[in-house]
Amino acid sequence: MKPDDILITKRLILRPVRMTDALLIQRVFPRWHMARYLSQVPWPYPKNGAVKFLRATALPAMKRGADWMWAITLKTGGDELRGIIHLRKGKTNRGFWIAPALQGQGLMTEAVVAVNDFAFQKAGFKKLIISNAKPNYGSTRVKEKTAARLIGRGRERFVAGVLPTEVWELTKEDWEGWSSKK
Ligand SMILES: CC(C)(COP(=O)(O)OP(=O)(O)OC[C@H]1O[C@@H](n2cnc3c(N)ncnc32)[C@H](O)[C@@H]1OP(=O)(O)O)[C@@H](O)C(=O)NCCC(=O)NCCS
Repeated sequence: MKPDDILITKRLILRPVRMTDALLIQRVFPRWHMARYLSQVPWPYPKNGAVKFLRATALPAMKRGADWMWAITLKTGGDELRGIIHLRKGKTNRGFWIAPALQGQGLMTEAVVAVNDFAFQKAGFKKLIISNAKPNYGSTRVKEKTAARLIGRGRERFVAGVLPTEVWELTKEDWEGWSSKK
């Protein structure tokens, strides 16, 4: 990921995460309703969870070019991290969370549109495979609102336990068709 991989939407600036974001991640993220439908998150979230995550996982993967991880910041709110949106090579390709106070305002949908554009126009993805725990209705809705197609169901371990999942596909072609009608 390059330092200038900055995405600008109507209300948001998405910029690469950095080590100094650890404090805000640690303050905002470790709540049950934020983490319960995520996988690969240690729970209870350790006191050094954010520092460890950035230092050992996120920043090295971004440096290798395997991951793009943006801090979601508000145009009206300085440079403070309010959430994260993550694009990655591998089995599933996107993840996200946003601070509770900002949920339900269409902000993640806005971020997803910018990241999907980036994935297909700049990062060379031909399709994205994305998934969520079935009870995570907010996450389902974000996908439904942004042209993803439900292609399967499964079961996976989340922080909240083993749950049914929904698996979605978004092809470059579908995305371009959807974007042209916006
Ligand atoms: C999932 C999440 C990222 C959605 O972010 P957001 O900014 O609230 O999303 P948006 O406002 O763009 O869209 C959310 C949609 O889901 C709906 N929604 C959200 N939570 C809901 C709930 N608990 N019950 C019913 N509908 C819900 C909203 O009404 C909206 O749909 P609408 O536009 O048709 O009204 C956010 O809730 C979050 O960070 N959750 C915790 C982390 C997480 O679960 N991440 C996803 C892992 S797959």
